[in-house]
Amino acid sequence: MKFKKGELFCGPGGLSLGASQAKVKNEAGELFSVEHAWANDFDENTCETFRKNICPERPESVICEDVRKLDITKLEPIDAFSFGFPCNDFSNVGEKKGFDGEYGPLYTYGIKVLNQFSPKWFLAENVGGLESANDGNAFLQILTDMANAGEHGYELTPHLYKFEQYGVPQARHRIIIVGIRKDLDVVFKIPKPKYEDPALWVSSKHALEDDPIRDDALNHDFTRHQNKVVEMLSYIPPGGNAWSEEIPEHLRLNVKGARLSNIYRRLHPDLPSYTVTGSGGGGTHMYHYDELRALTNRERARLQTFPDEFEFIGGKESVRKQIGMAVPPLGAKIIVEAILNSFAKVTYPSVESKWSGDIKKTLEENIKKRKDRAAGKQLDLDKELQEAAK
Ligand SMILES: C[S@@+](CC[C@H](N)C(=O)[O-])C[C@H]1O[C@@H](n2cnc3c(N)ncnc32)[C@H](O)[C@@H]1O
Repeated sequence: MKFKKGELFCGPGGLSLGASQAKVKNEAGELFSVEHAWANDFDENTCETFRKNICPERPESVICEDVRKLDITKLEPIDAFSFGFPCNDFSNVGEKKGFDGEYGPLYTYGIKVLNQFSPKWFLAENVGGLESANDGNAFLQILTDMANAGEHGYELTPHLYKFEQYGVPQARHRIIIVGIRKDLDVVFKIPKPKYEDPALWVSSKHALEDDPIRDDALNHDFTRHQNKVVEMLSYIPPGGNAWSEEIPEHLRLNVKGARLSNIYRRLHPDLPSYTVTGSGGGGTHMYHYDELRALTNRERARLQTFPDEFEFIGGKESVRKQIGMAVPPLGAKIIVEAILNSFAKVTYPSVESKWSGDIKKTLEENIKKRKDRAAGKQLDLDKELQEAAK
């Protein structure tokens, strides 16, 4: 069985690369796999990267335009769908114009695709913070919309995946929601992490050095730092950041900030890296554990489990952004393999989600608990103020 997959907010293709690598056979030897049908993103470099690496033979299948202008009715029918929807609009949930409002949250375009094609399964990705956005109401709203989408509705399995527990050399925690069409006799279970024990985690040093990166590797340009930055880095121990005690006064940054932040934070060679991000100014480019410099894009791509032959198109900052926003292909492969196994009726080790059971009820209870806690805190504060006023 080959699932033709469409994707919105496709990015450089981390999710799609992982999906294309997932292949499963059922007891009768039938192959279950995923084939790219079409993809959409509005960033030109990002679309070029996707075309070059995922579908070089069909570049026109990547439509580069704002999703709000995309004519979904003209897209080729699909039976699988993925979307890592941007989350910056969530604060509007509740007071938005609805699915058709121009400024409505972008996830609603994913719902439109589900309504249009009723694919057999979908995979949606977002940051861990989605759970608490709008006091939990955004997540509940999104899940409700997803569950009711399409001709048949979807059985949902949301889960917070910790990718370091799946062999990714990076602490990256993302909510992934898998939806399986309700009329199908298919049950998806969350694949059990093989690297649950921190002693098994893949370190950044292993990722960067076990198979050394060639000097002429793609996207492997080094940054030239100011002498002051190099000198400051020399005082920061592996795992430390710009607030390390060891930095002499004259080299310290003259900014206030969270001491736990990732500013000039160096990797720890024996641990997975901290989360690879795509934006941020000076001091946020992730710093090597041994050498006094920022990582190159190729090194960041390694921490994201992109193979070295995956070429990112665009200038250094554009490539950095693309890498930082992607789903690590290895993580995507493992989850898509589990979906394919579910369709192939092959059993595999699994775990429960923290939102298992009646998801809607659990989330509603969480929202209530949060409100009660906030009300309790307010009460405590009122009491303190009253005491202080006496
Ligand atoms: C989190 S990234 C997706 C990464 C992708 N899932 C991967 O694994 O490579 C979100 C993407 O949404 C795109 N995007 C944001 N707003 C958009 C819009 N209005 N229309 C189309 N694409 C948009 C961004 O350019 C970015 O590439």
